[in-house]
Amino acid sequence: MAAFGTNFTSQMVTSSYSAGQWSSLKLEPVQPFALHPATHVLHYASECFEGLKAYRTAAGDIHLFRPDRHVARMQRSAERLLLPIPSEEELLRALHMAVAAASGEIPAYPGALYLRPTLFGTSADIGAAARPADSAVFYVLPSPVGDYFAGGLKPLRVKVDDKAQRSTPSFGEVKTGGNYAAALREVVRAKEELGADQVLFAPGGDVQETGAANFVVIEDSHLLTKPLDGSILPGVTRDCILTLARDAGLTVVERNFTVAELLELAPRAEAALTGTAAVLTPVGELVYNGETVRVGTGEMGPWSTRLREQLCAIQSGTADDPYGWRVPL
Ligand code: COI
Repeated sequence: MAAFGTNFTSQMVTSSYSAGQWSSLKLEPVQPFALHPATHVLHYASECFEGLKAYRTAAGDIHLFRPDRHVARMQRSAERLLLPIPSEEELLRALHMAVAAASGEIPAYPGALYLRPTLFGTSADIGAAARPADSAVFYVLPSPVGDYFAGGLKPLRVKVDDKAQRSTPSFGEVKTGGNYAAALREVVRAKEELGADQVLFAPGGDVQETGAANFVVIEDSHLLTKPLDGSILPGVTRDCILTLARDAGLTVVERNFTVAELLELAPRAEAALTGTAAVLTPVGELVYNGETVRVGTGEMGPWSTRLREQLCAIQSGTADDPYGWRVPL
């Protein structure tokens, strides 16, 4: 299968905003946008996006996974960026339209149809750094996907970086391209220099999240992760894993913790990345200041296996959905 996010279906859903109004949703071919060189997003990064999935079950039914959460987060991101905010109804309708149009192109589980709702400011106004965009485009781009990490499900090697920042204390919760841009150089360098798959950002020793997903540690019946204090993305998969962990008998502890504490726990712990794209991917090794520290046995541990299997069973439709996370098309 093509690399994650490089393969698209033939149609997308679009809507545009001007003069205080959103146009009605339109299904159109996936094609380039014509943008004025002064377009707001190109200069002032007025952009936010979401990542969610639609699945086809073995019986052929199609469902979206927790679209309400993604819609709410997109509205919060838009609000923070002073972009026009599409209504919840329109956002949900756009997702359903996009999935219906691509219903014949959803890969069998563990594949899925990844949906990328995106919103950006289009005012042609390079003086607009001090003015919000007063026109915008919203679209939903569907992409059939398999595993996010090339090489499939295997424990990751993760660089722990206590100097770099992926965002700021209050902007990290916004799902905007700028936060991914800030992480990119560090992730590429870690790959080139250390053979690492990801970077765990821990500015000043505060363990936050990786460039592409939230981060959890499991040790001695506790699941430890940073609280949602504005500095990290409020992950929907993070919420699923915390819910499943609580119901499986783990004590979920949301508190700040340091790199020193993480390295001390690592040999007897499990660690994992959680995200829509990453699902739950185990961490086998941490690299800090050039030293490699193995996490647990270095293999996927029993709690990670159990929580991932439970989540996957709900997503694929092979288990009941007591939480109401599946939303049928
Ligand atoms: C997702 O998990 O959906 C994301 O948006 C992360 C992205 C780097 C693929």
